[in-house]
Amino acid sequence: MLSAAVDAARELTHERVVVQRGARSGLPIVVAVHSTALGQAIGGCRLAHYPDWRDGLTDALRLSGAMSDKCALAGLPNGGGKTVVALPPGRVLDAVMRQSVLHDVGDAIASLDGAYATGPDVGTGPDDMATIAERTPYAFCRPVRAGGSGDSSEHTAVGVLAALTALCAERFGSADLSPRSFAVLGLGRVGGHVLRLLADAGATLVVSDVDEGKRALADRHGATWTDPRDCLTAEVDVLVPAALGGVLTPRSVPTLRCAAIAGPANNQLDAPATADLLHERGILWAPDIVVSAGGIIHATAVELHHETSERATVRVGGIGDTLAGILHTARAANSTPATAARYRAEQRMREARRHPAAHRR
Ligand code: PHE
Repeated sequence: MLSAAVDAARELTHERVVVQRGARSGLPIVVAVHSTALGQAIGGCRLAHYPDWRDGLTDALRLSGAMSDKCALAGLPNGGGKTVVALPPGRVLDAVMRQSVLHDVGDAIASLDGAYATGPDVGTGPDDMATIAERTPYAFCRPVRAGGSGDSSEHTAVGVLAALTALCAERFGSADLSPRSFAVLGLGRVGGHVLRLLADAGATLVVSDVDEGKRALADRHGATWTDPRDCLTAEVDVLVPAALGGVLTPRSVPTLRCAAIAGPANNQLDAPATADLLHERGILWAPDIVVSAGGIIHATAVELHHETSERATVRVGGIGDTLAGILHTARAANSTPATAARYRAEQRMREARRHPAAHRR
């Protein structure tokens, strides 16, 4: 039994992985297409530092797999993929080099003939998508003036709010956010919007960022500023991981003092089994693949299905219902929300394989 599980874990589950040294930049570029079973694979382009480019490959493989589940759970006719540009430690890109690497990324995506489309992610934004689009049409979230749907971070934050509302309803018996306290870990593009939306809702806030310069933003919204370590273990109702992944580990879980967790950071768990540790501690964890889908839901609705931004925003709000359903299933089955989410994603992929036509919009 165990050996079968190990074998399964070692199987190549990705349809296609492009690994190449950029012709212009010389930098390692990985484009991982996990699945096109539900439709074109989508997933952001990450420009980040890694000690070894192979760590970037590992990240791309994991993140693209998560994107397949994210799309399935969001009800999108898309599969999962991801691009990683693995920058050597300390490497800073000037404007010319940045353009070179983005054109390299564009060429790598073009070689996949539409099987995969990219979007913004850690280290990239709408302007970068416009640069990639000089080499391939498959780039979401170009600036509105360049014909795209623009920055997706605000829509991702709207989805996070819908998720936090559903989470509070399940955990505290009321969807009202105003009596609740939140610790927001990371005030980047999405985290900053989440902070504003929670402050508008009247919540009590503790926040942190590795960049001290974000302190003014915290002050403006009446949030208490702490350092990232204290923020992670703050005594609050809900922890909101909004920075890089991997914050929930066998080491950090015993130190947490929150009752529930939901945030937009991708890959919050260091390993799937950490969901069980959270469950054992009675901390309700909303799977990141559900919580963080607002950006892709909005971008695909507007750019692929030509819906208005208002209509797309209503779809983003559906994240609340999706999460409520998953939390309900998990409670009824006494399983973790992570298991319930995976189960639902797989169920949807099976259905889509059986009835492909019913599935397209
Ligand atoms: N960073 C986004 C995500 O992980 C990627 C994305 C956004 C892709 C918008 C397409 C459109 O979901």
